[in-house]
Amino acid sequence: MKLFTAFLTAASILGAATANPKGNDAKGRFYYKQTCKTCHTKGAKGGEVTPMSKTQAQWKLYFVKAKHNSGTEALLKVMPEEQLRDVQTFLVNHAVDSPQPETCGK
Ligand code: HEC
Repeated sequence: MKLFTAFLTAASILGAATANPKGNDAKGRFYYKQTCKTCHTKGAKGGEVTPMSKTQAQWKLYFVKAKHNSGTEALLKVMPEEQLRDVQTFLVNHAVDSPQPETCGK
């Protein structure tokens, strides 16, 4: 229990250091690689998607709408809300027009 509290404290300090205080960039990268990338590499069924696929504004709008797979399913079906928040932070922070664009391993 103590360890868990320490982890939460560390996570919130890390989260506060990113551009978007609502989510955690580093955790978002982890969840993105762990889940989103299983379908979003070249040749996979979702096609290649990287943070650089959209601008910051486009990613924000994408998560406001929160519809995935050509609008056919809720993004929440992909992962729980807390993880989505971290992924959103990661994608926005490294979007094509961000200060640190990233392709996430490409
Ligand atoms: C189970 C497989 C799968 C997972 C996991 C997955 N996607 Fe997708 N995604 C798809 C498919 C299939 C499409 C539709 C591709 C198309 O229409 O060409 C898609 C489409 C997209 C698109 C293009 C716009 C749209 O909505 O059609 C984006 C952006 C996207 N996904 C982001 C994500 C993000 C972010 C995650 C992780 C939170 C994620 N995807 C996880 C399968 C997946």
